[in-house]
Amino acid sequence: MVDLSVKICGVEFKNPVIPASGTFGFGREFAEIYDISCLGAVATKGLTLEERLGNPVPRIAESRGVILNAVGLQNPGVEHFIKEDLAFLKARTRVIANVAGSSLSDYEKICARLDGLVDFIELNISCPNVKCGGMAFGIKPESVKEVTRIAKSALKTTPLIVKLSPNVESISKNAQAAEEGGADCLSLINTLTGMAIDVETRRPVLFNNTGGVSGAGVKPIALRMVYEASHATSLPVIGMGGICCGRDVVEFLLAGAAAVQVGTHNFSDTLACPKIIEQLRRFMETHGVEHVTELTGALKLN
Ligand SMILES: Cc1cc2nc3c(=O)[nH]c(=O)nc-3n(C[C@H](O)[C@H](O)[C@H](O)COP(=O)(O)O)c2cc1C
Repeated sequence: MVDLSVKICGVEFKNPVIPASGTFGFGREFAEIYDISCLGAVATKGLTLEERLGNPVPRIAESRGVILNAVGLQNPGVEHFIKEDLAFLKARTRVIANVAGSSLSDYEKICARLDGLVDFIELNISCPNVKCGGMAFGIKPESVKEVTRIAKSALKTTPLIVKLSPNVESISKNAQAAEEGGADCLSLINTLTGMAIDVETRRPVLFNNTGGVSGAGVKPIALRMVYEASHATSLPVIGMGGICCGRDVVEFLLAGAAAVQVGTHNFSDTLACPKIIEQLRRFMETHGVEHVTELTGALKLN
């Protein structure tokens, strides 16, 4: 019998596999297909203070090995989530509330509202800061530290995950900035900024012109960044970006992740997460790994 459980910031997860924010809604549709209590946790769609309808369509485009999305944080708002979805998710697994804002005060208010209600808050800092001409909070180390500090100051009990953007000069510096701001854990990567073009119309495929790139093709970039971030700080790291199978999970764990999130692959295979959990279990059995934590950071550099 192998042991897949992990403990992050004192919170026990039955296994390290978590569907990623924005690719699993609030779990209800997937719960009609399988028992989502098999999951380590669920990361919710990004929550804002008020309901958001998101961007006009087209907001998803396909490209080889990846997709692009410009969904624009469509969500029912934090109060609706607390009223309608929280109890449903809590009855089944750990809940990571992904939160988004366009000002520091938005982040502060949402964190204060969710404090004590969820297992973790995951700060999506890839959102445009309206006060800084639309530059995302997650780009410069100074603003990473500031938004982390504000969110952390609003939290009394719930641990804070800061989700790093890959569209940055130095992932190590931004990881350190999040640690200095008071983050309890890091997650990465969010989507890379990209574009897809329709040669017939000579226009970008996405209404928004650009979008976030995710899926199998981003895995090598994500792995390198997880490796760098986990070596730049002493914080636990949740790795993601292109995970499609159990062996991908093992790669992320070896690079330094304590747990992982699976995003885009949920769209190509609804049963992606339970299959990946079983593949991870089988890998451990066939490779003599008794406890999944033995894999974290066990990479041997050449
Ligand atoms: C359609 C879609 C919506 C997403 N929405 C969010 C979101 O609301 N908040 C967030 O932090 N990340 C969001 N993400 C990013 C994913 O959580 C994840 O970081 C990224 O897709 C990389 O993982 P993957 O390659 O396994 O998809 C979204 C991704 C996709 C594809």
